[in-house]
Amino acid sequence: ARTVAARIVVVGTGYVGLTTGACLASLGHHVTCVDVDAAKVARLAAGRVDIMEPGLAELVGRGLTKGNLAFVGGARDAVRDAAAVFLCVPTPMGAGGAADLRAVEVVVAEIGDALPSGCALVTKSTVPVGTARRIGELLGRDDVPVVSNPEFLREGTAVEDFLGPERIVVGSDTPGAAERVADLYRALGAPSVVTDAASAELVKYAANCFLAMKLSYVNAIAELCERLGADIDAVTEGMGHDRRIGRSFLKPGPGWGGSCLPKDTSALLRIAESVRYDFGLLAAAVDENIAQRDRIIARIAGAAGGDLAGARIGLLGLAFKAGTDDLRDSPALSVASVLCAHGAEITAYDPAVAGDLPGMTVADNAYRVAKGADVVVVLTEWPEFRRLDWHYLAALMRGDAVVDTRNLLEPGVVLDAGLSWQGIGRPRRA
Ligand code: UGA
Repeated sequence: ARTVAARIVVVGTGYVGLTTGACLASLGHHVTCVDVDAAKVARLAAGRVDIMEPGLAELVGRGLTKGNLAFVGGARDAVRDAAAVFLCVPTPMGAGGAADLRAVEVVVAEIGDALPSGCALVTKSTVPVGTARRIGELLGRDDVPVVSNPEFLREGTAVEDFLGPERIVVGSDTPGAAERVADLYRALGAPSVVTDAASAELVKYAANCFLAMKLSYVNAIAELCERLGADIDAVTEGMGHDRRIGRSFLKPGPGWGGSCLPKDTSALLRIAESVRYDFGLLAAAVDENIAQRDRIIARIAGAAGGDLAGARIGLLGLAFKAGTDDLRDSPALSVASVLCAHGAEITAYDPAVAGDLPGMTVADNAYRVAKGADVVVVLTEWPEFRRLDWHYLAALMRGDAVVDTRNLLEPGVVLDAGLSWQGIGRPRRA
């Protein structure tokens, strides 16, 4: 399938915006990326990408060299001859858990009357159901269709996910507009779901919240495994063969985090509330995520001999998952802050994080966290932690407990070094 090259403007150069811009350019479109941060625009225009995302810097470099990718500061000028404008500005969690749409509104007010007739105004940021309609009202133009085109990329594999999507979802209440936006992706050969705006907006929340519920469910089953003497690895493997359940997203952990799942679960709860639906199922998944964190903390306290005050805890991993340097809503930080509040002394190491953080010392290598530690805790599943010299770590530690919240390590290797190992949903080994 061939793509007809279109002029596209992407507003916002965060994870989603920059990936969208660079990837659309790689498909042959002419893309202009806009950001209000002038220093960031200058860096990007010079080919410097601050985000840790495999393949992204290469794509940006290629687009700049080919000349079909540009970075500019002013949105009004950029949109004048655009066929589509993608809004990729942040929609953080605002007061009371609802998504804060101010950035979207500011951009719409700025570019509204500069958009050429027929240009599609596309929301890619995750926005509450009904936002397309609201943007349409703000815009007040019949000749500019508003389209919802949610993005499903994961941090750490953003380029791969964008260029190899399992589906493209596009929705609009203007006949023909969603199809035109879906056409921009035709070269990817992915199935597309073309629908109305509200349905497309809801797909994104429904999908992310489903993933969050799946993880909370797995964490709850892992807790049952411990109490019943079963092994979560065997249980999830046995479940995962059933194609209706699927094998992925079944790993227990310290709780789900990141810039999306926590924000989207809380936003969907608010959306449900706004139409007076008591979404108890989703609320329970959020509660379970907090309970999981608290169980991890209790486990660490136990491993430290019952009292956290004065305990030295070494943390391996701070990012919310491996492969990213993103600390937003990271369960590791949440665990660390509670440990710190109970008087623990914390040293942490993460291969992607440098510089100290509140309440802890951030070391520049993994062995430093073991020095004098009572407990070493794995919080992010960086593969390199598996390859550490556990004999050396054991020699550096004051205590002998390893808490592995990602079931990442080879327990036998840790035991061989004279340490105890405790994972999630698996029998403790000492
Ligand atoms: C998530 C979704 O997976 C993407 O599809 C979506 O596009 C994105 O949010 C978004 O809304 O932009 P992301 O936040 O990058 O992507 O991270 P995930 O890979 O989904 O991981 C989320 C959390 O679940 C992490 O804390 C991770 O450690 C945890 N997790 C994931 C587990 O504990 N176990 C698993 O098996 C998988």
